[in-house]
Amino acid sequence: MNVFSTRILPQKGIEVFEKAGIMVNCWRKERSPTKQELYDGSKNADGLLVLGRTEIDREFLEANRHLKVISLFSVGYDHVDIKTADELGIPVGHTPDVLSKATADTAFLLMQMTARKALFHHKRIQKGDWAVFDPEAGLGLDLKDKTIGIFGLGNIGYEMARSCRGAFDMKVIYHNRSRNEKAEHAFQAELVSFDELLQKSDVISVHANLSSETKNKFNREAFSKMKPSAIFINTARGGIHNEIDLTEALRSGTIWGAGLDVTNPEPMQPGNPLLEMETVSVLPHIGSATRETRDAMAILTAQNAIAGLKGEPLPARVTF
Ligand code: DGY
Repeated sequence: MNVFSTRILPQKGIEVFEKAGIMVNCWRKERSPTKQELYDGSKNADGLLVLGRTEIDREFLEANRHLKVISLFSVGYDHVDIKTADELGIPVGHTPDVLSKATADTAFLLMQMTARKALFHHKRIQKGDWAVFDPEAGLGLDLKDKTIGIFGLGNIGYEMARSCRGAFDMKVIYHNRSRNEKAEHAFQAELVSFDELLQKSDVISVHANLSSETKNKFNREAFSKMKPSAIFINTARGGIHNEIDLTEALRSGTIWGAGLDVTNPEPMQPGNPLLEMETVSVLPHIGSATRETRDAMAILTAQNAIAGLKGEPLPARVTF
């Protein structure tokens, strides 16, 4: 048995494969494999590990129906045609739960960085612009007792709500397909309509999957309903916001600030106007990037793949 991996899997995952006597053939170049290279790597493999955003579409799946499993090193699966994989009987695994805290911590970090203009002040020092004390210069916003609006209250949204409540006593409101009774009980969270979320939140934090329902959800119209003092945070998928509309909303003062760990498109290019704005913080999609979390993701990725290769139920299968 052998698997092809689209990037080098962290050592903790390799060790799980070694114990099971399964060989991992990792793509080692400093770029993702091209379509042809992906086909070549998968041709003689029993399983495929997808690290990064390599697209797995219907055409690929039909040409590689011999694969016994596809295991994703991510919780998100919008880059994979899950419906077709299901039809062809190829189980797809992913890495929920193990990255919830790290990803929520990134959202929490972005919220604070943005509210206190941390990157702007850091850049000022680099430019030699730390001179006299000015009581009116570079002021941020308090978060204490403000309202956090969670868009998509699953495990990551839950952790974000917990941090906001614990650190700043923020009121938690959320918009979700279904009620989250656990969050309602733990944080007195209140389920609201999308419009209410927009109108009432001081900070909106996105924690939903990218789907046809959520694509472009935060657009010009949505931003126009938010408070002029509001902060928009997205650590989920860049496709959920419209970046041109977001840039315009920030420029015109329709909203106050934004913290992004995901952009649209990715990677964001150096000249992007958002990078020059005082109340914007951008990170390069590092939501789950801690040593402990990446190790846990690698182990779960390996466990999912091994289960699929043996024809056993996956510990974390994406369900269609
Ligand atoms: C995830 O796990 O989905 C992260 O966003 C990495 O893509």
